[in-house]
Amino acid sequence: RSLGNGKHARSQSPLKFFAEAKKSINDVFKDIAEYVKESHAFLNALPEECQCDKAKSVEEFGNMIQGIIEVLTRNHMKVVFFGRTSNGKSTTINAMLRNKIMPSGIGHTTHCFIQVEGCDSSDGFLLTEDSDQQKSISDIKQLASALSKVKLKENSLIRILWPKQKCKFLREDVVFLDSPGIDVTPDLDDWIDKHCLDADVFVLVANAESTLMQTEKNFFHKVSNRLSKPNIFILQNRWDISVGEDDPEEVEQVKEQHYQRNVEFLADQLKVVDRQEAKNRIFFVSAKETLISRLHEDNKTPTPHGSLQRNYQERAFAFANFETAFEICISKSAVKTKFEKHSQRGRNITSSLKSIMEETYQKCQLQGEKLQDVKGEKASELDFLEKQTLILTTEMKDKIKAMVEEVERKVAYAMNV
Ligand code: GTP
Ligand code: MG
Repeated sequence: RSLGNGKHARSQSPLKFFAEAKKSINDVFKDIAEYVKESHAFLNALPEECQCDKAKSVEEFGNMIQGIIEVLTRNHMKVVFFGRTSNGKSTTINAMLRNKIMPSGIGHTTHCFIQVEGCDSSDGFLLTEDSDQQKSISDIKQLASALSKVKLKENSLIRILWPKQKCKFLREDVVFLDSPGIDVTPDLDDWIDKHCLDADVFVLVANAESTLMQTEKNFFHKVSNRLSKPNIFILQNRWDISVGEDDPEEVEQVKEQHYQRNVEFLADQLKVVDRQEAKNRIFFVSAKETLISRLHEDNKTPTPHGSLQRNYQERAFAFANFETAFEICISKSAVKTKFEKHSQRGRNITSSLKSIMEETYQKCQLQGEKLQDVKGEKASELDFLEKQTLILTTEMKDKIKAMVEEVERKVAYAMNV
């Protein structure tokens, strides 16, 4: 694959960084697995005098690599949405999915955590924590609604498996997590431990009609105590409401006030980004309008009169800009957090393998010298050993060296997004 092509493909969707890196790292590990297998067979065939003590661990490397490959295939990018009740978390997710999947409504609606992830089947289904049985998507309202009679625990998780073909985010391995309002639970620590430690991006859905509240700030202070420098976006949602205000100048002032306070929060208080970058993390949107217009666009039906407010395009652009910034941020962050540790383990395994082979080579040489003295008596054994030593010096040693270099290079390429 030429670098030029790679760059071109990357510029199409930033989310592809993740898929590309995942594939490259996966290929690297498949190669390492092959080398380990070969080395294991080679070492096993050597006479006992030439075996180095550590040779036994080569077999273990094989199992470790299989384990890593399994974890890698399950890895995804995770975004979690938080905010006070009714700020529009569920509506925002629906707008991104271009589908009304999450229950939304006035009052306290979402009662537990709902995760949306992609599946290969053409129909979606639900899974709850207590059973493997697939449930119908239409049960979601019943299961997740605060108004429902049968209540799941607030920190419990419902998984929605939704067809990948219906949404580009799901196709590229993004997983969405919706949460109940942070103002309705006393147990935020428990939420963070259970649902947030593997999150790549947090989206704070705030209400543009009011300023950031202490409950919202406290939550993110807790998050940044547990995770170093979490990636946070702030959506000032319901910005369509501002259209009803009489004085446009005042609306601009309100916008400026929101900017100031949010920048202060992200840069000065949480210290997760600098002031310049903080500005790029704040968006004035209307999830409701974006959802309505996208649904009608996809159905090729006109949007009903009055459902989109004046200057709607501005908020639609802001929503799309948020999505682009989000795509870049989440794929970069996920590659780093999800793959870096594995790449390091891959490097460790290959360099351990290299030193085992080197030690074995030295033992073989030593054994060869010893046998020189008794040549004649044990000519056939020496022949065999000489041959093996030759293979080690030429073939195997070069191969292992090349492998270590290749792993370094491929990992560097995969991580370089
Ligand atoms: P909980 O699940 O209760 O925590 O609320 P939520 O944050 O998920 O809010 P939800 O998406 O259910 O939206 C609450 C209400 O606000 C719904 O009636 C939405 O239609 C409405 N809403 C969401 N986004 C917007 C918006 O941008 N503008 C306006 N005007 N209304 C919105
Ligand atoms: Mg909700």
